[in-house]
Amino acid sequence: MCFIAIVIDARYENVNVKSDWWETALFYQIYPRSFVDSDGDGIGDINGIISRLDYLKELGVDATWLSPIFKSPMYDFGYDISDYYTIQPEYGSLEDFEQLIKKANELNIKIILDIVPNHTSNESEWFLKSSNKEEYYNNWYIWENAHIDNYGRRKPPNNWVSVFRKSAWSYMPSRDQYYLHQFSESEPDLNYRNPVVAEEMKNIIKYWLEKGVAGIRLGSINYLYETDKDVFGGHFPDEPLTGKSGLGPDDYDYLDHMYTKDQEETYDIVSQFREVFDSITLRDNFTRVMMTVANTGIKNAVRYYGDSIHSGVHIPVNNALINEITKESDARDIKYVIDRWLSYKPLGKHANWVTGNHDTSRVASRFRPELVDAFNMLVLLLPGIAFTYMGEEIGMVNGFVPWVETKDPLACNTDDPVNFIEVSRDPVRTPFQWSNGKNAGFSTADKTWLPVADGYESLNLATQRSTVRSHYQVYRTLTNLRKRHAFRLGRYESLALNNEVFAFKRWYNDDTYIIVMNVGKSYQVVNLTAFDLIFGQLEVEVSSVLSSRTYSENVLANFLDLSADEALVLRMQI
Ligand code: NOJ
Repeated sequence: MCFIAIVIDARYENVNVKSDWWETALFYQIYPRSFVDSDGDGIGDINGIISRLDYLKELGVDATWLSPIFKSPMYDFGYDISDYYTIQPEYGSLEDFEQLIKKANELNIKIILDIVPNHTSNESEWFLKSSNKEEYYNNWYIWENAHIDNYGRRKPPNNWVSVFRKSAWSYMPSRDQYYLHQFSESEPDLNYRNPVVAEEMKNIIKYWLEKGVAGIRLGSINYLYETDKDVFGGHFPDEPLTGKSGLGPDDYDYLDHMYTKDQEETYDIVSQFREVFDSITLRDNFTRVMMTVANTGIKNAVRYYGDSIHSGVHIPVNNALINEITKESDARDIKYVIDRWLSYKPLGKHANWVTGNHDTSRVASRFRPELVDAFNMLVLLLPGIAFTYMGEEIGMVNGFVPWVETKDPLACNTDDPVNFIEVSRDPVRTPFQWSNGKNAGFSTADKTWLPVADGYESLNLATQRSTVRSHYQVYRTLTNLRKRHAFRLGRYESLALNNEVFAFKRWYNDDTYIIVMNVGKSYQVVNLTAFDLIFGQLEVEVSSVLSSRTYSENVLANFLDLSADEALVLRMQI
């Protein structure tokens, strides 16, 4: 007779808590242009992504969201969409995309698309027809007559400034009118006061959900509406000045955007979009997730979770760690920014955390390379949903893209070959560093669309995979850890143990963890017994790459010395 020993591991023990797939998911952002180039043209593509799905699986991600893959003249690298129903040919075909969904399904990786509802490309057929006043499309965009000044000169209708600097209005001779573009000139804003536009956007969402995507991200959502000009006698009013020093009329922050952002109507259109997601979710019994991005104040931001009137979205992306934590921030600032989201978020809704994306300087460059593991610990072990921008798992740094090779319209709009570097987003979009081979293993082309970042010979996935201590190894251990109940379902408490050391506790029943990180530049000693029920010894589960501690080593709760940048995940001994 043989006996089978069944060992029940309390850390994963089955509990009767139902959670939907997205509620604690890890979403990995792919910037398709820079991930993998399968056909040697120097530009990443869908087949490239397919070829690395097994890597995503190994990394432990649940879903991947792709920056826009739709037809686009690529002035803003896909965020200027000219046809929402067609895949950009240099990325592949619809068949390639269907293949991606199929292969991803086989690996149980969900695919999320990024659709831009605020504006189209100026090369979109809709815009061309609207420019020619074709009746059906006449009111699809925000068209305004010129302001004629005292000398009879034609001027933009008002003082509105685009996020990308300079007037938010561009003149279109065919209509003898200006169109509004809150971002680049190549991105005319759609007119959501025209119900036909809203209906078309719903059709687009439905089309891609029916293709089998697990969700859609809708960016710049709080720019969808401008104020109702009828309230102002048929003219859009000037925006008031912020009075911030050192800025001129071409700078976005020169104005207070009270008429061009966060308008009340936004929450209603969001609910209407949500209905499309819900109807398909209900039919298929599989949640199609709606994500939105709104860079705005906390009270507006959490309204996207919904309220008694509006249904809201599943995931209002929380950009606080990106927008508010800087090189100068200390442990208290980190605690404050995290607590604020948790405090304002409605009870029962799910938090989410993100430290990087295609618009933001990389963690290793924004802070220091030594803090990469600490920030990955934050994102992956705080309660709720986690987002990782591709390359953050290996601690990629910003590349250097000189002015002559600069592609980002935001940088080009500065007209400044010296200071463009402060705003350029090209450095965070350089190719993924797979290996120390040609073009870091990204492409076989002689020239890639953006240059590969310096230092890829040592900073690359292949090297980190074969090294015992690397950001990649830390990241993988963390994605495994996050499957435990303490992280998926557990409670949360945090402390700034002093100005430099931030720590948080996650626990579920008697499985308890302390994540502690010294974000300062000097050696620190802290006492973890400041947390309730933390005493005696704790065991190291994960340590940052440069830490002298290793797995399963014990540390004392009441006397923990931490070197600069050291970050640890500790488990309470029972
Ligand atoms: C938001 C996107 O994240 C950014 O990359 C883009 O430039 C703007 N929208 C304008 O489309």
